[in-house]
Amino acid sequence: METKIFSKDQIDDAVELLAKGELVAFPTETVYGLGAIATNEKSVKGVYAAKGRPSDNPLIVTVSGEEMMRKYALEVPEKAEKLIKHFWPGPLTILLFVKPGSLPDAVTGGLKTVAFRCPDDQLTHDLIAKLGYPIVGPSANTSTKPSPTTAEHVYHDLKGKIAGIIDGGATRVGLESTIIDLSVDTPIVLRPGEITPEELSEVLGEKVLINTGKVSDKQIPKAPGMKYRHYAPSAPVVVVDDVADFPQIDFDKNTGVMALHDQLAKIDLPTENKFDLGKNLVDADHNLFGGLRYFDDKKDIKQIFVQGFNEGENSLAYMNRLNKAAAGHHFNK
Ligand code: TXA
Ligand code: MG
Repeated sequence: METKIFSKDQIDDAVELLAKGELVAFPTETVYGLGAIATNEKSVKGVYAAKGRPSDNPLIVTVSGEEMMRKYALEVPEKAEKLIKHFWPGPLTILLFVKPGSLPDAVTGGLKTVAFRCPDDQLTHDLIAKLGYPIVGPSANTSTKPSPTTAEHVYHDLKGKIAGIIDGGATRVGLESTIIDLSVDTPIVLRPGEITPEELSEVLGEKVLINTGKVSDKQIPKAPGMKYRHYAPSAPVVVVDDVADFPQIDFDKNTGVMALHDQLAKIDLPTENKFDLGKNLVDADHNLFGGLRYFDDKKDIKQIFVQGFNEGENSLAYMNRLNKAAAGHHFNK
């Protein structure tokens, strides 16, 4: 199959493909998503196949707004309304009970809940509004690889497997949305993202729990995706929590390093072994997946050292993704 690249003014062509049941990747403010009409079971199953994703890992449902969401949610509690009013469109995914029979089981993995997301991206908003139906929206990468933050990343992973990609340029945030579960008594963040637990708690006026992500295969995990290997390039990744440790590392031509600009300047390695994460944590969020992909394509790199951040809630999302990429491996720990 030829994978067409659509520009911003070719949305109608993309809508036509989606309406026919084809798969089209789309930009959001976080990462690129892999779209298919959410009400068509065959299309949804195609998404699992294209990504190589386990069938028990449910998909996010991407909507154009609250009104569309209401057609698929069993009920919309006041807490959800508060969060929607404050954060949508934006990088917050909300888990609610699904209206039985409104979506194929393939979307929810047979669970009683469904994850709703309304991205802050005009292009994608117009796409869904024109289609008139929600689209599923898992990250548009091959399963286990870092999420795509450019149309090129999507093309690298899924060319020949999907009908099209809408190119909206590089995504703003670079890490996936915050997921909050509102199907339980005390709201709980299942996946950290740009919107922090503190911000959520402030808007809700109550405590918000944070999932520690420690799930065993025997349990049904609250966010099924968490039990899988994730974001992993082919070379092992090591987190460097303290920048003072960088001088102790034995760098050689087979090591890669990802760090903030000033830190990187102090490390004696050829430029192709270095990946600049930028000036600060916000830049690092934006660049993390791109860096992991950069080294994934360099087959002579056998180990990648990546700068960690310990800046409280603001670094939760970055460290969550990095810890998964590193399978918990930290330097000097
Ligand atoms: O920023 C994002 O959220 C991106 C963009 C493309 O919208 N999407 C994204 O989707 O990250 P995905 O599928 O890569 O990650 C969604 C996570 C998975 O770990 C999945 O297990 C979890 O959400 N999830 C989806 N539906 C769920 C449900 N009903 N209950 C618990 N977890 C759910
Ligand atoms: Mg994903």
